[in-house]
Amino acid sequence: MSDSFDVSGIRAQFPALAQMHQEGGTADGFPMVFLDNPGGTQVHQSVVEAMTDYLIHHNANHGGAFATSQRSDAILHEAHAAMADMLNSSSPDEIVFGPNMTTLTLGISRALAREIGPGDEIVVTRMDHDANISPWLLAAEDRGATVRWADFDVEDYTLDMAGLRGLINERTKIVAVGYASNALGTVNDVATIVHWAHEVGALAFVDAVQYAPHGPIDVQALDCDLLVASAYKFYGPHLGVLYGKYDLLDRLQAYKVRPAPADPPGKYETGTQNHEGTAGTLAAVNYLAEIGEKYGRGYEDRFPDFSGRRLHLKTGMTVLREYDHVLSAAILDELETVPGVRVHGITDRNRLHERVPTVSFTWGDRHPRDIAAALGEQGIFVWDGNYYALAVTERLGLEGKGGMVRIGAVHYNTVGEIKRLGEALRSL
Ligand SMILES: Cc1ncc(COP(=O)(O)O)c(C=O)c1O
Repeated sequence: MSDSFDVSGIRAQFPALAQMHQEGGTADGFPMVFLDNPGGTQVHQSVVEAMTDYLIHHNANHGGAFATSQRSDAILHEAHAAMADMLNSSSPDEIVFGPNMTTLTLGISRALAREIGPGDEIVVTRMDHDANISPWLLAAEDRGATVRWADFDVEDYTLDMAGLRGLINERTKIVAVGYASNALGTVNDVATIVHWAHEVGALAFVDAVQYAPHGPIDVQALDCDLLVASAYKFYGPHLGVLYGKYDLLDRLQAYKVRPAPADPPGKYETGTQNHEGTAGTLAAVNYLAEIGEKYGRGYEDRFPDFSGRRLHLKTGMTVLREYDHVLSAAILDELETVPGVRVHGITDRNRLHERVPTVSFTWGDRHPRDIAAALGEQGIFVWDGNYYALAVTERLGLEGKGGMVRIGAVHYNTVGEIKRLGEALRSL
């Protein structure tokens, strides 16, 4: 990994990380430990500044004949271009912003459903967040289509790839798969699944919400038809992003009002958008590119076809991906010191590249909410329950037992924080 990667320098750029716990308990005076990142990350200082700057200097609706509207439109355009760089899409017109991934997915699933009928099939997986399941269940129900469920291995916590392959056939119209699981942390072999979908003429829809904060995404290399992410999971504000191949976005009939634009991306960006959030997303992407510029020099050879911001985003996200392995190992090391804790995810240290540092566990009969609450009192913020990965907790037989506790680290977390988590767990 990059020798120069400087976590304390990075932390200083995230104002929320400087907060001390002050809730009237034993943790008061200690820094808050944010390990709730799969539920949403803290934002970079430049994101706060961009949003404030937008609201003070550029705040206007779209398409006006005056200065603030024109400045606002320029920022929106630049944000589309930045997301196109981050995902390596071929055009900013392939980037659609919206309130969040769930709303964007429900919207595009309606448009896709118009092309589906009885006898057609949609493949979903039990490893996915429900936002990449229910929209397809509803679309299938509306159109009389059939849903096929791919399973995951409950010992290995990886997708049953052979089973998934067997579900894809000439009736398949959509294959919906997650890039990384928000519950198990597993990173899926999305490129292979996209390839299988295309072999039968189906569309491949990728939920990259959990992968986006951790590693480089290349929609052209994946060749996926549609891909979704959420800026609030990659250090930006609460906003969703949808990538779609231009021809597909152009062909589909969007659910929109008159006289909204007829062409992508405008035809999918219904109503007045979250402009300040879009400005913040632009800043978040630029921040990730700065990481590449600063720490990614040794990685440039890996991306000979890239230059400028696209290259910096690739090298920056590669640096973060490598630091992920340190974080994953540290979390697993700590959890293994706690007798009775069972990790539901990949633990093999030689396979850390197959996961992100999102680690869920159960601990005997202890209720996950009690563990999360006890950690919360100690200033350590973790999630509990199913985190909307309902199919996962159901499949593991944990839904009726409060689900799991989830530790989710990102690049601004330190091994020291994870050690504090371990000490807190051992003291419970
Ligand atoms: C894997 C995954 N997909 C989808 C979502 C939903 O994203 P949003 O909150 O932007 O709708 C989440 C949120 O936790 C997620 O983790």
